[in-house]
Amino acid sequence: MINMTVGELEKYLNEYLKASEFEDFTFNGINIGKRDWEIKGVITATDYERSLVDVAKNENANVIIVHHGLWWGKPYTITDEVYDDMAYLMKRDVALLSYHLPLDAHPEVGNNAYILGALGIEPDRWQPMDVGFYVDVDITVADIVAKLEKVLGMPKDVWEFGDGNVRRLGVISGAGGSFLGTLLDLGVDTYITGEISYPQWRDFRRYGINVLLYGHYKSETGGPILLSKHIEKQFGIKSQFVDIYERAM
Ligand SMILES: [Fe+2]
Repeated sequence: MINMTVGELEKYLNEYLKASEFEDFTFNGINIGKRDWEIKGVITATDYERSLVDVAKNENANVIIVHHGLWWGKPYTITDEVYDDMAYLMKRDVALLSYHLPLDAHPEVGNNAYILGALGIEPDRWQPMDVGFYVDVDITVADIVAKLEKVLGMPKDVWEFGDGNVRRLGVISGAGGSFLGTLLDLGVDTYITGEISYPQWRDFRRYGINVLLYGHYKSETGGPILLSKHIEKQFGIKSQFVDIYERAM
């Protein structure tokens, strides 16, 4: 393990994940912590919650990296539950970093790269589509369900609004229902995402696009899993992904 500070890791991740290239509605990089802290170990997860700090302490880790960090939208006051969330980290000298859209879009360690990788589709065939990808394939909806079961479990819903054959597949993790226009422009016939709303469901039905929903959370576990492995391989820092909702879901 090499000696590395929180600030050095943040600098590396900002560049590796191309954080400055995204217009995000949350913050990317260090949320809480001190840049001169020496890293003892890393925990990655999809969402921040206080139990992660306990896991970090048990594993002698002092850095947590998540996909969904503490701040969303406009600045807000630090009171009540939000106060407790932040104080829990600060009282224990644990740093929190988050990477949102950069960790959806990244071609090696992103949420969408993980899903396509699990389908066995080579990265040189993917084309970028917003924070996800689309790719030409010759498979069926049933093939996708079978292949993804090992890594994401069974989908929460499968809507075969098309004929079940997949020629052009699109993948955008998380809440991906608003990308229908892009999917239609690109001729995507089958779409993997996390969750979509009821009005969006009606539109997908209307346009005959197959939809596989893996839940917002599950569809965004791959990025943190791959990022944890990357940090361990790249720097020899002990790192592990924590599936905080594994039992709850
Ligand atoms: Fe998300």
